[in-house]
Amino acid sequence: MSEPVVNASTQNQPASHPTAPRAGLPVVALTDIRKSYGIGTAVETEVLHGIDLSIEPGEFAALIGPSGSGKSTLLNIIGLLEPATSGEYRLGGRAVTRLSDAEITAARAEALGFVFQFHHLLPAFTALENVILPALIRKGAWTAADRAHGLALLDQVGLKEAAHKRPGQLSGGMQQRVAIARALSRGSPLVLADEPTGNLDTKSADDVFALMRSFNREQGTAFLIVTHDPRLAARCDRVIELIDGRAAVR
Ligand SMILES: Nc1ncnc2c1ncn2[C@@H]1O[C@H](COP(=O)(O)OP(=O)(O)O)[C@@H](O)[C@H]1O
Ligand SMILES: [Mg+2]
Repeated sequence: MSEPVVNASTQNQPASHPTAPRAGLPVVALTDIRKSYGIGTAVETEVLHGIDLSIEPGEFAALIGPSGSGKSTLLNIIGLLEPATSGEYRLGGRAVTRLSDAEITAARAEALGFVFQFHHLLPAFTALENVILPALIRKGAWTAADRAHGLALLDQVGLKEAAHKRPGQLSGGMQQRVAIARALSRGSPLVLADEPTGNLDTKSADDVFALMRSFNREQGTAFLIVTHDPRLAARCDRVIELIDGRAAVR
C-alpha cells in the first residue's frame, strides 16, 4: 500500500494538528488489528483477531457485543491508551502504530475525547475546573478565555448553575454531563465513550445520549459509543458488533 503523505508541513495543516481530520480521510482507520495479552507466557491469549474498521468524520456509531468480547480493548487501542500487538492504525490519516510516547500523548490530547462509565472527574475540583482541566495540564494555568469556554460548554450541557459545585454534589447524570463537556473541551474530531450510560437510570441515560447526539449534529464531532442498551444502539447511525474479537457491521 502506498504511504499517504502525512508530513504536516506539506499538507497546509498547522503543524500542531497532525491528526486533525483531513478531507476525504477517515478519522480512524484500522487494518488487521490484533491484540494479545500475556505474550510469551503460558496464558497468552489473542482477544482481537484482525479488526478492520473505519470511522468517518461526523459519524455516530455504537460498538456492541457480549461482555468480554473485546469492546474496551478495541476502544483503548483506538484511544491510544494501549498499543495493538499488530496491525495498522491511522488516526486522521497519520500512522500512529509506531509513535514515541510523547507523540502518542500529543496525538491523544489533540484528536480524542473520552467518556467512561464512571465519570473520572477529580473530586477536589469544581465542575468548571474539571471541564477545563485539559487546558491546565497543557499550559500549567487557566486563562480567562479557558474559563469562558468551559462555562459555555457547561451551559450547552445544561449545567451552568452547577459550574462551581464539586462532583460529589452532583447526581450521576450531571457528573456524566460534565464528563461530556470535558471530552468536548478541546474540539476533538472524535469522542470515545465506554458504556457512558451504563451506570445511569433510564431517564439520565436518555439525557446523556441525547446530549452526545446533539453535539454530533451541531459540531460534527464523531462518536464511538460502547453500549449494552439496544435502544440506544438503534438510535446510532451505525452499529458495529464485536463477537469473540471479530467485528461485523450490522
Ligand atoms: N489487561 C488485561 N490482561 C489480560 N487480559 C485482559 C486484559 N484486559 C482485557 N483482557 C481480556 O480480554 C478480553 C476482552 O476484554 P474487554 O476488552 O474488557 O471486553 P469487553 O469490554 O467487551 O467486556 C476478556 O477476556 C478480558 O478478560
Ligand atoms: Mg468493557
